[in-house]
Amino acid sequence: MARIRELPPDVYRKIAAGEVVERPLSVVKELVENALDAGADHIHVELEDGGRHWVRVSDNGCGINAGDIPLAFQRHSTSKLSGIEDLDQLTTLGFRGEALASLREVARIQLVSAETEGAGVEMDLEPGGQPRLRTVSSSRGTRITVSDLFHNFPVRRKFLKSARTETNRVVSWLEGIALAWWKVGFDLDHNGRSVFSYPGVDSLLERAYQVLGRETAAELVPVMGDGETATCTGLVSRSRGGGPDRRRQYFFVNRRPVREKTLMAALHNAAAPFLEKGRHPVAVLLLEVSAEDVDVNIHPMKLEIRFRDDQAAFRLVYHAVAAAMGNQTAFPSHPGTADAPGRYSAFVRNAAWSGGADVSQAAEAGSAGNVRENLLLFPGGGPHAGGVRVLGQYRSAYIVAERNGELLLIDQHNAHERVIYDRLRRQAADQGVESAAPLFPMLIELSATERGLLAQKGEILAGLGFELEPMGGASVAVRRYPRLLAEAEVAGALREALQPAEEQVETGGDLSLAGVACKAAIKVNQPLSLLEMQRLADELFACENPEFCPHRRPILVHISLEEIEKRVRRR
Ligand SMILES: Nc1ncnc2c1ncn2[C@@H]1O[C@H](COP(=O)(O)OP(=O)(O)O)[C@@H](O)[C@H]1O
Ligand SMILES: [Mg+2]
Repeated sequence: MARIRELPPDVYRKIAAGEVVERPLSVVKELVENALDAGADHIHVELEDGGRHWVRVSDNGCGINAGDIPLAFQRHSTSKLSGIEDLDQLTTLGFRGEALASLREVARIQLVSAETEGAGVEMDLEPGGQPRLRTVSSSRGTRITVSDLFHNFPVRRKFLKSARTETNRVVSWLEGIALAWWKVGFDLDHNGRSVFSYPGVDSLLERAYQVLGRETAAELVPVMGDGETATCTGLVSRSRGGGPDRRRQYFFVNRRPVREKTLMAALHNAAAPFLEKGRHPVAVLLLEVSAEDVDVNIHPMKLEIRFRDDQAAFRLVYHAVAAAMGNQTAFPSHPGTADAPGRYSAFVRNAAWSGGADVSQAAEAGSAGNVRENLLLFPGGGPHAGGVRVLGQYRSAYIVAERNGELLLIDQHNAHERVIYDRLRRQAADQGVESAAPLFPMLIELSATERGLLAQKGEILAGLGFELEPMGGASVAVRRYPRLLAEAEVAGALREALQPAEEQVETGGDLSLAGVACKAAIKVNQPLSLLEMQRLADELFACENPEFCPHRRPILVHISLEEIEKRVRRR
């Protein structure tokens, strides 16, 4: 790292100043940010008594030059900034040169740092005292222990919460930062016991698995959005349940954790239509914005930022998340509709899509309205129409097949969803979706919002094969429903079709279709016969977009011969 210098007064006066040390979390935050800035790939945080007794952060980063150590604890001394213009090209988390100086005023500090293996320097600092330095042998990196926080400020010490509360704060912040820095290993210990240990990993998804747990991680889909000068990547949960609050929403701008209302609103608006009422999406979103388009210098703890163009930031996040959640905006396979995302009529009338329409309509006529039978009954698109040969089924969830010399794994649920969706679109465009009447009168309770949407979406619902009659109060009678559905699936599919319109007015039609298709599709954990699988695969490859389901989840895993031969060392 560059040498540490004192900032000239005209520079530091322009930097948002203020108290940065409030509680043990503040100490952890400043020390961990320094460790990341130092390029560490492993960071160990230890707390004693919730950090009220001491906090220690050890890293294996670049270390501090022995001659610079006392300077590091001087106010406005930093190696990360020299002129105010550098703020526009900032790549580090720190820049104010204040943290270590603030810490030495309110706590006892011990530091060991080495730029090269073995050649370390140790320093003890008492508040108000002079640094005492001596050489020691230590591994490369820096270890800072901050003890007896606020021992000289009894009133502020009283504001500290219980050890458990202070620890929880550290845990949530550290988990957040760990998500954005997945290559870095993070360990947290409290009172000598491990709270968590996340080794560095190669992808955000793997880190999400460590931090959010297996179940949540399994529901995450990738988010990818490109703006003109910014990108938004990350993960969002496709679970309809989401989370009960916004606690598992993580936003980073240039890998700096932020709570920023534009970003939160964009996520909410894009995801809410796919979630049950009152639930919140789980998401990790990383924005990369050119440093000049974002101002990080408005809050001493740097939690707040300001976008130069927050409309643009909103749009970027909104579209990236909506595409990930299944919005047709990002549907790539219909050139005619790419510019007019998802306009229902334009979409369904598009003459370009043809694949096997007659075949599947014939199939529908014989359908018993039940998914399983439906699969059995629809005659495929001729013998291996798409050149696909089914070999078997893996874990009752994936069809193993061969096509164009490749080995394919086909996600059976996603594949069936795509097939049904395309069929529904064709039917809706022609004579309307085939419907069935329930054996017994069917009453469904809808929320006020859902009832409000009934009128708005009347035409779309009718096109899908629903015939509904409001019964007064919350109840709606279902006279007819799409034949594809089993009766037990009708209520769920209707709710799915009644996504709040808000931002979705244009795409409402397709969303409703996708919802119905998802409900009607076979699930995983369903054993299928070879014949059933062959038919499904044939019909899948008659679709224009066999790669993605209507919700934009991938359907296929391609494994090339070359890949296989490499693995068995035949090449
Ligand atoms: N863990 C560390 N590894 C290497 N250098 C560090 C570390 N912590 C602090 N430093 C050095 O000390 C300086 C002052 O740190 P700090 O007071 O946090 O200010 P800032 O991070 O804003 O520069 C940093 O600029 C950096 O050069
Ligand atoms: Mg710092």
